[in-house]
Amino acid sequence: MLLFKVYHSKTKPSKEEKQNIVNFLHEHLQEFRDSKEDISKCLDYAVKNNVASFGGFVLLIYEEKLLQGITIINKTGMKDYIPENILVYIAVHEHARGKGIGKQLLQKAIELTEGDIALHVEPNNPAIKLYESLGFTNKYLEMRLKKH
Ligand SMILES: CC(C)(COP(=O)(O)OP(=O)(O)OC[C@H]1O[C@@H](n2cnc3c(N)ncnc32)[C@H](O)[C@@H]1OP(=O)(O)O)[C@@H](O)C(=O)NCCC(=O)NCCS
Repeated sequence: MLLFKVYHSKTKPSKEEKQNIVNFLHEHLQEFRDSKEDISKCLDYAVKNNVASFGGFVLLIYEEKLLQGITIINKTGMKDYIPENILVYIAVHEHARGKGIGKQLLQKAIELTEGDIALHVEPNNPAIKLYESLGFTNKYLEMRLKKH
């Protein structure tokens, strides 16, 4: 049976739980991973942990009590001209992939989110299929100027 757990500004993870979330994402994002420091910042932003932010949430999915996937949504504080939400990270446990867990996790995140959702994905990531199957389109090409 699949179960969900949500953390946000009113229900924050404990220090230990926060570490588990960061470690899980760092491990299972694999080649698409960011540093633990960046993942930790994203999590703090989502649950408003000592940081000024518009919030968001962290969604965890468990199968038979085992943590099998996590996604983090950050709210942007904007709407219409910029989507209200950014899906920053999504990962399913390496050994639990290909059986619909990612889809259920994303579906639940969409359900819990108010407003549009933006995300960025590398052009070679098969996760694109998952996003498209739930209605995401890529109308824009993302470009960034790295200042340092
Ligand atoms: C992307 C990810 C979360 C998908 O989780 P998952 O549980 O394996 O996905 P699902 O089993 O729910 O698959 C959902 C759909 O996406 C497709 N899909 C997912 N991963 C795929 C892959 N590696 N190759 C081809 N198709 C894939 C499936 O075919 C499925 O489509 P269907 O419903 O038409 O059958 C998981 O592969 C992952 O954690 N990858 C590493 C981290 C990552 O890339 N995160 C996204 C960064 S942008």
